[in-house]
Amino acid sequence: MMKLAGEGDHWPLVWLNTGSLFLIALCCYSIFLLLLYFVRRRQYASLSGILPLFGLFILCCGTTNLLYIWAIWYPVYWILVLMKGITALVSLYTVVVLGSLKQKALAMTSTIQLETASFALKPEITESKQTKIRFYEDLEQRVAQLKQKLAEVNKRLQAEMQECQGAKSKLQQIQFQLVQTEKMSSLGMMVASIAHEINNPVNFVYGNIAPAKEYIQDLLGLVELYQQHYPQPVPAIQEYADAIDLDFLVKDLPKVLESMKVGSERIRDIIMSLRTFSRMDKTQMTGVNIHEGIESTLLILQHRLKGKPERSEIEVVKNYGILPPVECYPGQLNQVFMNILVNAIDAMEWKGISLEQLGSDKQTPNSFPRIEICTEVVKTQEATSNPQSVVIRIRDNGPGVRERARRLLFDPFFTTKPVGQGTGLGLSISYQIVTTTHGGQLDCVSIPGAGTEFIIQIPVRQSHRRYTEIS
Ligand SMILES: Nc1ncnc2c1ncn2[C@@H]1O[C@H](COP(=O)(O)OP(=O)(O)O)[C@@H](O)[C@H]1O
Ligand SMILES: [Mg+2]
Repeated sequence: MMKLAGEGDHWPLVWLNTGSLFLIALCCYSIFLLLLYFVRRRQYASLSGILPLFGLFILCCGTTNLLYIWAIWYPVYWILVLMKGITALVSLYTVVVLGSLKQKALAMTSTIQLETASFALKPEITESKQTKIRFYEDLEQRVAQLKQKLAEVNKRLQAEMQECQGAKSKLQQIQFQLVQTEKMSSLGMMVASIAHEINNPVNFVYGNIAPAKEYIQDLLGLVELYQQHYPQPVPAIQEYADAIDLDFLVKDLPKVLESMKVGSERIRDIIMSLRTFSRMDKTQMTGVNIHEGIESTLLILQHRLKGKPERSEIEVVKNYGILPPVECYPGQLNQVFMNILVNAIDAMEWKGISLEQLGSDKQTPNSFPRIEICTEVVKTQEATSNPQSVVIRIRDNGPGVRERARRLLFDPFFTTKPVGQGTGLGLSISYQIVTTTHGGQLDCVSIPGAGTEFIIQIPVRQSHRRYTEIS
């Protein structure tokens, strides 16, 4: 280590100098590092060049101080001088750059200035914020109003659409009713005119059977008298009597006449039923015997009730009560009975069991298709001028109707029958006839698998109502 002049006396000064220099150098390096850190963290656009330059200047100062310390022990001054020269150059350059930045630095807004400006702008900012809030509130209100209006329009449109749909289905219903009614009325007219045409000749036949029977009895009596008085007739008469088998003829002729009478009576009944069914003669409401209508409908459906190879005969059980004459359009009510009975027969087509399958031990009452018709008079609840109604129940033991289908039964075009067999109009027309035309009720009760019951209720008197005739 080198020896300093007068070192024994100046050691405290030397150490103080060294410490100060070291501290300055340390601070210079720290400042340099801090400046670098600021420059990196903040982009001082306008002062970007000067800060690193300051940093460099301070770095040079710090290094110079370190070299001073170095020179105390190792007096190699040229390094110190070189460093000082570099520091001088850097400081000079810094002065030049700072001078050029003077204008820019003065133009920079100070924090106080910024605060003052911000304070001055505060009311405006608050005002603008409030305006913005008011604008949004207004907007929200308008959107809500528009939404409400839209919902109302939507609701109105839906109601109108429903109305349109209702009107459309009503129109369709009326259209098909008209077609059906037209068909029924032409059918009724045809049936009525045929019945009328056949009625006269049948009446001749039926009317002449009794006198014919009398004449034949007379003639047979005469033949018997001849046989008593001329037991041995001439050969020609004997031959003729043998040829015609006189004994058999005498026995069989009354039977032939009797069956002719029964046959013509049946024709008369059928004609009566046809006339009752069509009732074209009565377009006004009249008091009619409901049982006659049911009977005539059953007679017309006789062929469908009969047994078939695939099912036994449909038994019809009648439990008729005592009914007063009911004021109604008989032709239309008969159409209702017809629709319901045909449906019951259709429903039971599968229910009947094959006749070949019938063994005496296999027969159970439920194995047979059956229709039960009950009628009765009931008191209507309201004490109106119309206190009585007749109730006709037509029950079958067919497969029944499921709940979902039961709700659709009276809708036009609802059918479960194959295309070409069912129109789905029978029950909807029946419903119209019973409810609208006669002010009654038509209901259906069914237990799937056990059977179906249609309940028709018609007021006995209709005079207080105004009616819309379907036909
Ligand atoms: N007695 C019944 N038993 C079971 N189903 C029935 C009965 N009566 C009516 N239905 C059901 O109601 C439907 C509608 O009957 P309807 O209006 O007369 O039309 P359609 O006879 O032309 O099908 C039938 O297709 C059938 O499914
Ligand atoms: Mg039907």
